[in-house]
Amino acid sequence: MTNQKTNDFKEIVRGRRSIKNYDPSVKISREEMEEILELAATAPSSVNMQPWRFLVIESPEGKAALAPLARFNQNQVETSAAMIAVFGDLQNFDKFEDIYGKAVEEGHMPQEVKENIHKSFSGYFETISREDMEDVVLVDGGLVSMQLMLAARAYGYDTNPIGGYEKDQIAEVFGLDKDRFVPVMLISIGKAADTGHTSVRLPVDQIAQWK
Ligand SMILES: Cc1cc2nc3c(=O)[nH]c(=O)nc-3n(C[C@H](O)[C@H](O)[C@H](O)COP(=O)(O)O)c2cc1C
Repeated sequence: MTNQKTNDFKEIVRGRRSIKNYDPSVKISREEMEEILELAATAPSSVNMQPWRFLVIESPEGKAALAPLARFNQNQVETSAAMIAVFGDLQNFDKFEDIYGKAVEEGHMPQEVKENIHKSFSGYFETISREDMEDVVLVDGGLVSMQLMLAARAYGYDTNPIGGYEKDQIAEVFGLDKDRFVPVMLISIGKAADTGHTSVRLPVDQIAQWK
């Protein structure tokens, strides 16, 4: 009944459902979780700054700290292998050198192109308002979250995206700077214990227009 490992793209996408009950005896190894996160993080992002940061909450202590912040989603907190808190780092430009330096080192880009990118974007990153940067990291954070949920299915796990939690408290409770790390969503992940519910989608003629 439960989801098996698969590389069938349509099965991964069409078979995804929000799962809220997991087999609590199934944990996800550090190695496997790192593979899932690495795959998720191939998502595109603004200026390739990859502003997503993940807090993998899997220990009983971590879950106990999270539980009061996710009041209507207790089942996922209790039964999942882990709850992944996705954040957007407003100071993502700090990693410019890590990303573009490596691109040069690995021969994907000449040094001169890297310097030009730095020149064109350093002013933008210095002057962008907090509100605008929040918009950027929320868009990028949404893309990586979707990829994470699909990557999870490829590894035989299921997920539930969760917006119902205390976003104003989560960073501080886990010792992160709340002025820097913007909460995107929580994602529960684990081995499904039920099949979830089929949900309806609007037909394409109601969601798209052609001009
Ligand atoms: C941003 C976001 C926030 C959500 N928050 C919750 C939540 O707090 N609790 C919950 O049980 N489901 C939550 N969901 C799951 C949606 O209810 C679910 O994705 C939707 O009903 C479609 O069902 P499906 O995911 O099974 O296709 C959320 C989904 C998204 C994208």
